[in-house]
Amino acid sequence: MMLKNKVAVIYGAGGAIGGAVARAFAAEGAILFLTGRHLAPVEAVARDVAAADGSADVAKLDALDEQAVDNHLQSVIDEAGRVDISFNAVGIPDTDILGVPLADLDIELFSLPILAYTRSYFLTARLAARHMVPNRSGVIMTVTALHSRTGIALVGGYGPAMAAKEALTRDLSAELAPYGIRVVGLRPQAMPETRTIKEAFEPRAEASGVTWEQWQELLASRTHARRLMTLEEVANMAVLMASEKASGMTGTIVNLTMGSLDD
Ligand SMILES: NC(=O)c1ccc[n+]([C@@H]2O[C@H](COP(=O)([O-])OP(=O)(O)OC[C@H]3O[C@@H](n4cnc5c(N)ncnc54)[C@H](OP(=O)(O)O)[C@@H]3O)[C@@H](O)[C@H]2O)c1
Repeated sequence: MMLKNKVAVIYGAGGAIGGAVARAFAAEGAILFLTGRHLAPVEAVARDVAAADGSADVAKLDALDEQAVDNHLQSVIDEAGRVDISFNAVGIPDTDILGVPLADLDIELFSLPILAYTRSYFLTARLAARHMVPNRSGVIMTVTALHSRTGIALVGGYGPAMAAKEALTRDLSAELAPYGIRVVGLRPQAMPETRTIKEAFEPRAEASGVTWEQWQELLASRTHARRLMTLEEVANMAVLMASEKASGMTGTIVNLTMGSLDD
């Protein structure tokens, strides 16, 4: 097992990526502390983990609330003795932002994803690092998107938010790697099996006169493999990056766009 007895905290664990990562971590023997803004979806993931003989504690947690993140992490330390992996899979709702041209976008709506994504990632990483430094060991991870590296229309401040998270990944690594802590991001392509992508793009596909299936084919045609990555593949990469097998990986973002985006 690649993560046997590793203590992993996942933020946004009730979401598509957070849930898939939780199931994959559990299958590799990790001891899970799953958190999310609403409890029900996190509990559903924990039930899957338990059904597969895994171990998962659940907590309702706003990953933008410094005190709440701090208190929760302390409770993890009290119970498990340490934290080995911090994975931030939080996704900020953006239905009011998507589709609005930048020239028409309100400054508060533009700033929202930039402030929320960076705040949540900074808080969860910083507080985890404080517990990892004394052990001189740990892995801090998050998820970004190809918007960090290429111009995409009608997504408001999401691109700058993803670029900021990637910059923060490098900066955290520059400061923490000397203490044995690795910091690694994952940058997946859009996965149509997730609610995030379906809700964001199905209406826009229809509005532009193509079916949802045609839109997915268009995206897939831009990859070298002519197909889009699955949640399971992203979760498998998360396992690898969190494991000792990736001991040489830090300060970088794993490009999971299957050739859509050059390095
Ligand atoms: N899906 C994709 O294909 C894809 C591809 C590339 C990048 N990404 C990025 O990966 C991230 C996760 O995507 P996803 O598809 O897994 O999104 P998702 O299914 O919407 O999951 C996001 C999770 O974050 C939680 N959350 C939101 N605000 C929170 C807060 N303040 N505190 C704690 N939890 C909070 C949500 O909880 P509630 O539902 O309870 O609010 C939800 O469970 C996003 O940044 C997304 O942009 C996704």
